[in-house]
Amino acid sequence: MSESFGKNLAAIVGEAFVEEGEGIDERYRTAIGVKRRATPGWLARPADTGEVAAVVRLCGAAVVPITVVGGQTGTCGGALPSDGGLALSLERMNRIVEIDRLSMTMTLEAGCILQRAQEAAEQQGALLPLDLGARGSAVIGGVIGTNAGGNRVLRWGMMRDMVLGLEAVLADGTVVSSLGKMIKDNAGYAWKHLLIGSEGTLGIVTRAVLRLRPLPTTRQTALVAASSFENAIAVLRQLEIALSGQLSSFEIMWEDFYRIHTEAQLPQRPRPMPLGHPVYALIEAMGGNQEADRDHFEAALSSLVAEGLIADAVVAQSARECDALWAVREDLGPGYAPLRPFAAYDVSMGIADMPAFVDDARAGVLACYPEAKVLFYGHAGDGNLHVLVSTGSMDDVTAQALNDAIYGAVRGVGGSIAAEHGIGTTRAAYLGWTRSPSELALMRTIRLALDPKGILNPGKLFEPAELNEPFRSTGQERER
Ligand code: LAC
Ligand code: ZN
Repeated sequence: MSESFGKNLAAIVGEAFVEEGEGIDERYRTAIGVKRRATPGWLARPADTGEVAAVVRLCGAAVVPITVVGGQTGTCGGALPSDGGLALSLERMNRIVEIDRLSMTMTLEAGCILQRAQEAAEQQGALLPLDLGARGSAVIGGVIGTNAGGNRVLRWGMMRDMVLGLEAVLADGTVVSSLGKMIKDNAGYAWKHLLIGSEGTLGIVTRAVLRLRPLPTTRQTALVAASSFENAIAVLRQLEIALSGQLSSFEIMWEDFYRIHTEAQLPQRPRPMPLGHPVYALIEAMGGNQEADRDHFEAALSSLVAEGLIADAVVAQSARECDALWAVREDLGPGYAPLRPFAAYDVSMGIADMPAFVDDARAGVLACYPEAKVLFYGHAGDGNLHVLVSTGSMDDVTAQALNDAIYGAVRGVGGSIAAEHGIGTTRAAYLGWTRSPSELALMRTIRLALDPKGILNPGKLFEPAELNEPFRSTGQERER
């Protein structure tokens, strides 16, 4: 079968765009945050939706699993191909088809890198609001497949809120397409929302229409410190009103995170604010009137200082200073390096439950690993925290103990174990910690209805045994 399958693939996409076995490049075999190196049987790089559909039909007939590979920066193994399966790269399908400035939409192909889409929008005076650290690698199909969040969810929502139209190939090769530009569309089931965040298990996204916004022309950025989490959230709530809806980011960092990352960055840049505060928050507002926005921003912060809610504040005075403040939150490489190997989490809960979660998660980890470093940070305004745990080593026993501690604390506050990165493979065993049996049953029903053979990204979201799928992920898959 294998030889004829490769030939049939080549007949669809062209010989130049098929690779086989060990000839497949490393970048399609690995993913950030996952140890396993995949050994896919084939890699295909189709040119358009028609070719994707033909490839899917071929895989259906031969019962070969398909995983769409993208930027590979999702961190939970969701885009790691099945061993012996097909890795499908949409990198040739990276066209920006249209930017419609009146409708404020962008129509594009799924293989387009997020940053390119952002820049294309900007050139037309429009904002594609989705923004995240992996903007230079993440592709549109991936951020739709994971319903990505990032740094501006507070104001413009998650990917789901930006997808107006969608085109996808279903498991039987059907192309289902609704590339309209409507914000409002209540004509029956919103099937696009089933596919968004389904991690490639219900269909392969090939094109999308995204909602753009008028491009803000001003940006105010500040780092503030607060003497408690509660004060930091009071600052958030007051700024939401005081800045008249301009607040776009509120990124919280507990002291350990701030200390470790600013220390590691010291050779490149000074620490923007002294240590010694329990929490720090990076705040950004975007608007359209340079002088008025700046005055407004500074006045709002000053009054919060006067009220005692902000203990210290640094306001960026230039684009360079703004980048330096963002680096505290995003330039994590140097700070992370000595912490490797670590386990990384992205969890969500009601904002009021965050202090209890932080205490419980930290206590749970330290009970097993008294020397562990447990760093908390994230998109607090969205109820989304990232946790990074470093214990000095990371075998399977440690990884599981840490998962149990963190996800146990999440369960304790009724939160979600996957706020924005998805489930992938590394969290599949814990889906039942965050979803009820009836929810899981509904998810299985949907999966089996749309992909009865289980060829679309098997082994992801669900543990393979749960669906009785023929394809099992093998080897070690777990977080860093
Ligand atoms: C971040 C990624 C990890 O927010 O989601 O930095
Ligand atoms: Zn994040």
